[in-house]
Amino acid sequence: MKRRSWAEPWKIKMIEPIAMSTREQREAAIREAGYNTFLLRSEDVYIDLLTDSGTTAMSDRQWSALMLGDEAYAGSRSYYKLADAVHDVYGYEELIPTHQGRGAEHLLSQILIEPGDVIPGNMYFTTTRFHQEYAGGTFVDVIVDEAHVPESDYPFKGNIDLDKLRAVVNEHGADRVPYVSFETNVNMAGGQPASMANLREVYEYCRANGIYVMLDATRALETAFFIQQREAGYEDKSIAEILREICTYSDGATMSSKKDNLVNIGGFLAVRDPDLARQARSLLVAFEGLHTYGGMSGRDMEALAVGIREMVATDDHVRSRVGQVQYLGRLLDEAGVPIVHPTGGHGVFIDASKLLDHLPQDHLPAQALAAAIYLDSGVRGMERGIVSAGRDPETGKNRHPKLELVRLTIPRRVYTQSHMDVTAESVIQVAEERDTVKGLEFTYEPEQLRFFQSRFRPIPD
Ligand SMILES: Cc1ncc(COP(=O)(O)O)c(C=O)c1O
Repeated sequence: MKRRSWAEPWKIKMIEPIAMSTREQREAAIREAGYNTFLLRSEDVYIDLLTDSGTTAMSDRQWSALMLGDEAYAGSRSYYKLADAVHDVYGYEELIPTHQGRGAEHLLSQILIEPGDVIPGNMYFTTTRFHQEYAGGTFVDVIVDEAHVPESDYPFKGNIDLDKLRAVVNEHGADRVPYVSFETNVNMAGGQPASMANLREVYEYCRANGIYVMLDATRALETAFFIQQREAGYEDKSIAEILREICTYSDGATMSSKKDNLVNIGGFLAVRDPDLARQARSLLVAFEGLHTYGGMSGRDMEALAVGIREMVATDDHVRSRVGQVQYLGRLLDEAGVPIVHPTGGHGVFIDASKLLDHLPQDHLPAQALAAAIYLDSGVRGMERGIVSAGRDPETGKNRHPKLELVRLTIPRRVYTQSHMDVTAESVIQVAEERDTVKGLEFTYEPEQLRFFQSRFRPIPD
């Protein structure tokens, strides 16, 4: 008999107390943080949905593995264990460990991009695009149009539009396109997956044109789950098999292990071509560390090796992970709060431009909504809209992304269903009082990745 409900495939062994604050305390805290949820102290936060990055609860097996870390400067046993885990689960032969995902993006961009090159990708991710531009390249978005439409229920909003990709290659020439940057699960679009058919088609096209395909495999596990649920022919395959197949349609991948891989810090670049690996390793020693630890300690590599195997050991893990995200999405949907559809893999994305339709995009509706939700309940989310999109490096003008979202991102194995209930109640309360939410303006704007450290104030009446 098919089970009616799912529950987490683990039980809680250790807890970390969190405290509820008063409205006055939260008013002071958000003012001090310049209305930027990134600048709040975590002890002022009740339920922390800022990010699913590095916020995972590790398992008892991972904590035990920490004790086995081999901290040798060169030739650490833990490195070889990690390389075996990456090879067995993702299929890549060459492992370059980095301190986190952006370290891998930096190396990849430096070895493959020449000034003037063009890098097509599906939507963009902040740090990924930064490193592509930093290396002298220009990012071009080739994601399907549906990805920009929050109401669309298209099942694979992470897909690359082959016509858009062909047009970019025809315009610039294949020799100016070193690789396609393919995010397997598109964070900025709401945690949306690509389909296996699309991954295969893009890879075949690129191979025929001498262009590499480099995955951002940060949340490829969650995409494997959506493929199993939604794509014909995959319903009876295991998550482990689907994940391996995803990676076969690529020449390498960057990875922020702080997500799918169930650790608090770490990442890697993995490739098939030994010559690319050689180039990456020669930069690795300058920017991260020796090639057998890169940016990680031996114990971090041990916990990561266990996390990589654990995430695919049973399909129940990812089913309950995405199931919890979908539970929160359903609560908000039922209350009529506009969210990105279908609910993605790592969080629920609220359509701030629709909810706060009295605010123009230049009044930073998503930033204002994230601050309002924090004020209501101490639940911390994050802006993913005009502030995150930054300025065009050529014109210096604000980019105006089509999506103006607040992301409520769910850490893995950390919060219970009751925390999701409290979160939903708070968002619904703010939605009921939406007219009272005022727009914001910058009081400080850093030059790079401004969303992390910008400060704001309410626009005076
Ligand atoms: C899709 C994606 N790529 C890359 C990164 C960067 O990884 P890290 O934060 O480990 O540097 C992130 C982090 O949030 C991400 O979500």
